[in-house]
Amino acid sequence: MSKNLQDTVTLHNGINMPWLGLGVFKVEEGPELVQAVTSAIAHGYRSIDTAAIYENESSVGQGIREAMLETKVSREDLFVTSKVWNADLGYESTLAAYEASLEKLGLEYLDLYLIHWPVHGKYKEGWRALETLYQEGRVKAIGVSNFQIHHLEDLMKDAVIKPMINQVEFHPRLTQKELLRFSKEQGIQLEAWSPLMQGGLLDNPMLKEIAAKYGKSVAQVILRWDLQHGVITIPKSTKEHRIIENAALFDFELTQEDIDQIDELNQNLRVGPDPDNFDF
Ligand SMILES: NC(=O)c1ccc[n+]([C@@H]2O[C@H](COP(=O)([O-])OP(=O)(O)OC[C@H]3O[C@@H](n4cnc5c(N)ncnc54)[C@H](OP(=O)(O)O)[C@@H]3O)[C@@H](O)[C@H]2O)c1
Repeated sequence: MSKNLQDTVTLHNGINMPWLGLGVFKVEEGPELVQAVTSAIAHGYRSIDTAAIYENESSVGQGIREAMLETKVSREDLFVTSKVWNADLGYESTLAAYEASLEKLGLEYLDLYLIHWPVHGKYKEGWRALETLYQEGRVKAIGVSNFQIHHLEDLMKDAVIKPMINQVEFHPRLTQKELLRFSKEQGIQLEAWSPLMQGGLLDNPMLKEIAAKYGKSVAQVILRWDLQHGVITIPKSTKEHRIIENAALFDFELTQEDIDQIDELNQNLRVGPDPDNFDF
């Protein structure tokens, strides 16, 4: 089990990815985002998760450059993820989207590039492009996001390379038990988006009780629960005190009883779209 913020999990291709990263969804380009990224890196984060559709890759890149100037952290120490948007899924268009993301970020490579959504009839061509980028050594790891078991099975019928990551909505109201089991069997690492259910679980009395027992916050208990399930987590915050709080997960361990109790909160409830029924 991870012992500190810089601990990593080894993906099936041998690349190491931090267990914890900073999410930046819904944060606009500008100083607040640059500051959040520099602050996270200064406080020990090594992984940042963005996407083309967030339209904030330039500020993420600026934050990374500023952090590298201010700290001893180098590009190789960092793990940067972005995602190809639905409209760009297609062989040539995905290759072009990768170049556009690199340019906005001001980076020469990404550590992880993901297909953002399993758009029917389009994700296989997108995946072929990601395989090319990977085979050419342009990206360290490739994966998918919002893929259900049947999407993964379908993709893997034709894929040359198995996705290293599947980034999905995952929190105590959506515990994704089957998908987690399948991912472990397949060696596809699961990564949690909206791990805090966008703030929707922080008042839950049972979670508050567990948090009080450890002298931790509810957010910390939920993020620790992710790690103890073997799931990478990427909470978003632009507030320095929460960026610090969300990374202070390595000085306590939930008991199996606590984990089971948290699992029982599952209602298969999503805050985001259903991957089998989305229209964008
Ligand atoms: N692949 C996908 O389709 C997909 C979809 C959604 C998200 N994501 C990724 O996953 C990341 C995380 O998901 P998310 O941003 O949707 O939601 P989240 O991380 O579950 O929750 C973020 C919200 O919780 C607040 N918060 C953070 N830490 C807190 C703490 N310790 N105490 C109280 N409130 C706290 C934040 O506010 P403040 O900023 O004000 O602190 C923000 O309002 C995204 O940023 C993005 O990188 C991916």
